[in-house]
Amino acid sequence: MYKVYKNAFSLSPDLEKYIISKAGQGDPIFNNRDGEDKDNDNKRIQYDFKSSNSITKHINSKLQGIIENFGYKGTVNDPVILKSYPYCKRQRLHRDYDLLRNINKSEYPHGIIVGVSNNCRFIVSPDGLSRKYVHFDKGDVVIFRGDTIHAGSEYYTENIRMHAYVDTKSHDRIKNETFYV
Ligand SMILES: [Fe+2]
Repeated sequence: MYKVYKNAFSLSPDLEKYIISKAGQGDPIFNNRDGEDKDNDNKRIQYDFKSSNSITKHINSKLQGIIENFGYKGTVNDPVILKSYPYCKRQRLHRDYDLLRNINKSEYPHGIIVGVSNNCRFIVSPDGLSRKYVHFDKGDVVIFRGDTIHAGSEYYTENIRMHAYVDTKSHDRIKNETFYV
């Protein structure tokens, strides 16, 4: 379950410049293979915002405001910048949270993605087999429920977006853990 909110994150020229400058300083994360597997192409880069930094706090509070404005519960945590270099492979389908059994619907955790570049894409899979591409642009926000089967898309040109978790009390997220389907 996911929703795209057009132009929900106002990206000032200064903030955009800052994000773009940090985007290349991240470390590779998995795309087509498990964790550290050597077959990962190292073209999907993640930069972790430093939590003490005032710009991080600014971004976090903007994201928290968006979450609350659209009626979601939870706390925005662990914001990162994701950068794909050209010909970055798509990720394996996975969930960011463990299967969410016996959780009241209002208690679901979520993921939030903000387009920093235009022509961003995000893959969702209703059945764990098929792939549907969700398209969004700079300033658009995608919010998806924590049990959504999804994957980062492949890219043929450079692309930058931000991601954060929206954690709720009812469900612990295991840091840096993904659940393959
Ligand atoms: Fe994910």
